[in-house]
Amino acid sequence: MAQKIGILTGGGDAPGLNAVVRAIVVNGIRHGYEVHGFMDGWAGVLNGMARKLTLEDVEDIHRQGGTIIGTSRTPIFPKKGSPDRSGEAVEKLKNLDIYALLAIGGNDTVGEADKLYKDKRFPNIIGVPKTIDNDLNATDYTFGFNTAVNIAMEAMDRLHTTTKAHHRVMIVEIMGRDAGWMTLEAGMAGGAHIVLIPEIKYDFNEVCNVVKKRYESGKEYTMIAVAEGCEEADISKKGTDAFGNVKLGGVAKDLEARIQLFLDKEMKKPYPEFKYECRSMQLGHLQRGGAPTAFDRILGTRLGLKAVELVKEGKFGVMVALSGTDIVAVPLEDGVKLLKTVPKSRYEEARVFLGI
Ligand code: F6P
Repeated sequence: MAQKIGILTGGGDAPGLNAVVRAIVVNGIRHGYEVHGFMDGWAGVLNGMARKLTLEDVEDIHRQGGTIIGTSRTPIFPKKGSPDRSGEAVEKLKNLDIYALLAIGGNDTVGEADKLYKDKRFPNIIGVPKTIDNDLNATDYTFGFNTAVNIAMEAMDRLHTTTKAHHRVMIVEIMGRDAGWMTLEAGMAGGAHIVLIPEIKYDFNEVCNVVKKRYESGKEYTMIAVAEGCEEADISKKGTDAFGNVKLGGVAKDLEARIQLFLDKEMKKPYPEFKYECRSMQLGHLQRGGAPTAFDRILGTRLGLKAVELVKEGKFGVMVALSGTDIVAVPLEDGVKLLKTVPKSRYEEARVFLGI
């Protein structure tokens, strides 16, 4: 009887997920395993919702966004008041005769995999780092990030023309939770005149001064890239999702109102009939949708292939990761022990273009 590999995807989807699933199924079957996909992350494990994946199931899916096995943020360890359901999950995995579990996810999913490995109730576990936020430690990149950055860059390219035509200030809000990677890279690629990230508390007066200077020097528009988790956001007022996670989003709207006030009060009209205006746009889930870039397809594929090789070698308690151009295995805990945020030196590079 073939040994069974179980796979699940947890947290927000990320372009490249289907490439991972395809690579695991293709390489798993090649090595004589059966691959079973749990539907909707840990929710599927708790409900015993798994299906055997065939080569037909994964044909051509590497080019599709989303994930054919669904995803959810359902936790199994206690989180913000939710009960400990890890025992039930382990029981289900054992009842279904799962030999090894590949947990594809971000900090939450890989963190829970690490706990299951450490308490030895289900040690045959491997993590695969997935998130558009790129905030998992011990890997140079997570898949999904590159696609999301490209989507944000394209949006900024389009917004540039309309913003310039109206001589406006345009604020583009970019996802990423507590990490500013997407905003930094999309801001740089998209030519934002101001980039605001959660790692560095921003100064509202400086933002206004840059806007003013640009107008005064004849550059009659300004593009601002702001990360959803930026310091000025009053997240205490935000709601939470069904699993207790703070729902971010809305920073750009707040900033828009404040900048408009500044423009009304502090900027002289260039001529009586004209008024300077500020607009904002929250890119939101657009950044997670659609086809993955070649980079994410290849990264996802290579991570999936490696995860199966590790199962074959009996190497568990690890996360597959990108190190330079190599796919390596690092301890699960290294992936999640701290959030990978933008270092000051990277931010300084973007600041060279402040207002330019
Ligand atoms: O973690 C990925 C991410 O897209 C974050 O950037 C964002 O804050 C969050 O997920 C949104 O989550 P949801 O899809 O549950 O609204």
